[in-house]
Amino acid sequence: MPATVILGAQWGDEGKGKLVDRLAEEASWVVRFQGGNNAGHTVVLGDSVLKFHLLPSGITRPSCNLVLGDGMVIDPWVLDKELQGWMESSGEDPRGHRLFISERAHLILPYHRYMDSLDTKIGTTGRGIGPTYADKINRVGLRFGDLSEVVGDDAWASATSERMNAALVAAGSSERVDAKGLQSDVAWIHQTYEACIANTGLMLDNALKLEEHVILEGAQGCLLDIDQGTYPFVTSSVTSHGNATHGAGIHPGHVKDVIGITKAYITRVGHGAMPTELDDEAGHHLGTVGHEFGTTTGRKRRCGWFDAVVMRHAQRINGFTGLALTKLDVLGGLEEIKICVAYELDGQQITEMPSSASALARCKPIYTSMPGFPEMSLPEWLAMAVHANEAGKGIGVLPTAAQLYIAQLETLVGVPCVSVGVGPDRDATIDCL
Ligand code: GDP
Ligand code: IMO
Ligand code: MG
Repeated sequence: MPATVILGAQWGDEGKGKLVDRLAEEASWVVRFQGGNNAGHTVVLGDSVLKFHLLPSGITRPSCNLVLGDGMVIDPWVLDKELQGWMESSGEDPRGHRLFISERAHLILPYHRYMDSLDTKIGTTGRGIGPTYADKINRVGLRFGDLSEVVGDDAWASATSERMNAALVAAGSSERVDAKGLQSDVAWIHQTYEACIANTGLMLDNALKLEEHVILEGAQGCLLDIDQGTYPFVTSSVTSHGNATHGAGIHPGHVKDVIGITKAYITRVGHGAMPTELDDEAGHHLGTVGHEFGTTTGRKRRCGWFDAVVMRHAQRINGFTGLALTKLDVLGGLEEIKICVAYELDGQQITEMPSSASALARCKPIYTSMPGFPEMSLPEWLAMAVHANEAGKGIGVLPTAAQLYIAQLETLVGVPCVSVGVGPDRDATIDCL
């Protein structure tokens, strides 16, 4: 079996966790390849709502192996808390049995959080992501595989804390790092994770040679990509297809399917332009019916109409073989549904995203309009999805207006839908035939 890549196609929170959990039933491995605990992925199993920030969403499938890959930045305390929660609810400690951390993955330390807490420009999650990637690029970062070499090394601890304190002073932070504290942190991290630090790229390569199915679980979304997103209002990693295999330590030839996840509308958390953002009744509907609050920070998500300009950009960068549409149910009850097909920028119509943040902020959406479809309760949507899949009817069970809406999105993006989400529950997804 080859590898399947699952990516957010918008500004994150498209429903990656839900899809990965679903597809992981038939996978042997789920791998996070970039980002850190800025991610918040939700899996809903009946009454139980699971939120993962670092653990791959395939953890819900006991036969699935889990990798925190080379391209990640990992806060060991957040991971520990998440593992404690998992152990309490499942009785399982997956470390070294089915959870492995790449020796190449970088560590988020308190210093990185202190630095990130000074952000006022981007609206980051404050989890230390950018400062940790900055250290990686500056070639002064600490990787899981380096831990055994620095444990008990006084010279390393004092040089590192000196460097960190100089940077904190320069940045105007009142926080300080102390060499002894750093040493004891490093000793604790090493002891806690020693059993699961591994050459995970090699493990995955071997698994793929044995025809095992590997899912590469993206975090964030294409528009938050450091190179291809709405810079500077982006995260600090490459969130796109090009980094999925690279950040996992395998080659791109392994990938067959690249699934782009997109909401039936669009949301964004943090600063930066979002041309279709709504500040009206429809926007209020999307935010309240869709419960649009950040999984990681609880911040209110900004809501807007589906933006085909964004999606075409995401398609060009990622080469999606299929789209997984989510949250179609949230549109139920709206009389009219709009789709942005182009922008007007300084009096000119454009169909591609400008790379400049200020130009994007001046873009006005040009809409096409579609008729809405009736509101239904979540149990009704769930029952419809279960029936559609059992009876092999696909999206033919949906109201005609909803089917037409999906067809229009497929045409505008140029990629077929492979599934349609109609509720948060694992089973509230209709497979397209
Ligand atoms: P992720 O970061 O891409 O994994 O997405 P999040 O978990 O941060 O946010 C997606 C939210 O939408 C979560 O609360 C999911 O439970 C919920 N969700 C996912 N798919 C659907 C869907 O099809 N319909 C509805 N109503 N909710 C969904
Ligand atoms: P998932 O995986 C939505 C946003 C932040 C901020 C910007 C930079 O759940 O889709 P960072 O902390 O990464 O330096 O913040 O990126 N952001 C996300 N928005 N979903 C996410 O992850 C995000 N991860 C980061 O809000 O605007
Ligand atoms: Mg999220």
